[in-house]
Amino acid sequence: MKVIKGTKVFNITELKEAANLLTRGRLVSFPTETVYGLGANALQEKSVREIFNAKGRPADNPLIIHIAKKEDINNLISKELSVLAKKLINKFWPGPLTIVLSKDNKIPEITTGGLETVAIRMPNHPIALKLIEEAGVPIAAPSANLSGKPSPTLAEHVIEDLAGTIDGIIDGGQTGVGLESTVIDMSKNTPVLLRPGGVTYEELVDVLGEVDIDPAVSSKGENEAKRAISPGMKYKHYAPEAEVILIEGKSDKVKDKIEELINTYQDLKLGLMITKELRGNYSNVNLKYMGSRDNLAEVSQNIFKLLRDFDNEGVDKILVEGIVTEGLGLAIMNRLRKSAGYQIIEV
Ligand code: TXA
Ligand code: MG
Repeated sequence: MKVIKGTKVFNITELKEAANLLTRGRLVSFPTETVYGLGANALQEKSVREIFNAKGRPADNPLIIHIAKKEDINNLISKELSVLAKKLINKFWPGPLTIVLSKDNKIPEITTGGLETVAIRMPNHPIALKLIEEAGVPIAAPSANLSGKPSPTLAEHVIEDLAGTIDGIIDGGQTGVGLESTVIDMSKNTPVLLRPGGVTYEELVDVLGEVDIDPAVSSKGENEAKRAISPGMKYKHYAPEAEVILIEGKSDKVKDKIEELINTYQDLKLGLMITKELRGNYSNVNLKYMGSRDNLAEVSQNIFKLLRDFDNEGVDKILVEGIVTEGLGLAIMNRLRKSAGYQIIEV
């Protein structure tokens, strides 16, 4: 085990020690199949408060509780599982789907941001599952980044943001999905998709029939932009230090627009994030490939990492190619639009 600024960095053979920290009420970051989480005992108010402090997270933003066995959900909810909720669990757990249901009283208010509902998921990652089981308590875990930054997909990202303020990190290499889980509210009459993620809207409709989509999912920021006029309210999420501009539209028009912007900004330290399909169109620019439009899993795995890489290279502005909002594309574009603070050029 290494120690960085007082934070223990565990390898996968040292899970017991990390689990002990959690049982004792401390904070430990761990890999899941989506992104790295920052875990604490979900039932202990004091530990959960430490999560909010470490991340600088607003207190009204509720956390997801992670469990290691499907049946553990029954200890955390106040009503019997509906037929539809059971179908979701059987089909998608363990996996990148978080389900919102009426909460049991034993969950402290701080964990759910004062809401009457609780968000629960069973992650599909051997380290996460083993750790939760060893800790013996349900684990509240937001993404292990400073509030507002891109979510961490490598232990190095967690170290960048949180070493010195948390007790431990388990290094499990790069995460698979690369974006946070899908969040679906099953506490209402009709299921509502609150956050798109690794389980797609199309897959949910297949199982549930009808699914409403929260307007924020596909937002291009019209409302957010208006609100941002008041001081201190500028919307910021998944944002690197560099300014991000997202270019959306038909591929050939996006290609031309990017070329025009490269010329406009030639005096700046510019970064370019595009799909492999636009390969060969640009020269003399710091260029990173997100992956192929035909393999959106590759794109989702890469985007947060690439945004952080550009920051480490001291880039001023990042131009990003938009993709279609089907399948995983809905989650990818939801994150990219937020990373850009809704600076979107539609062509
Ligand atoms: O993939 C993930 O979900 C990762 C890994 C670590 O599991 N966790 C994660 O947590 O992304 P976080 O805290 O960054 O995002 C939790 C999301 C937020 O959008 C929050 O508002 C929503 O879940 N949420 C939590 N509880 C809720 C509730 N009771 N009702 C509605 N939304 C809720
Ligand atoms: Mg987060």
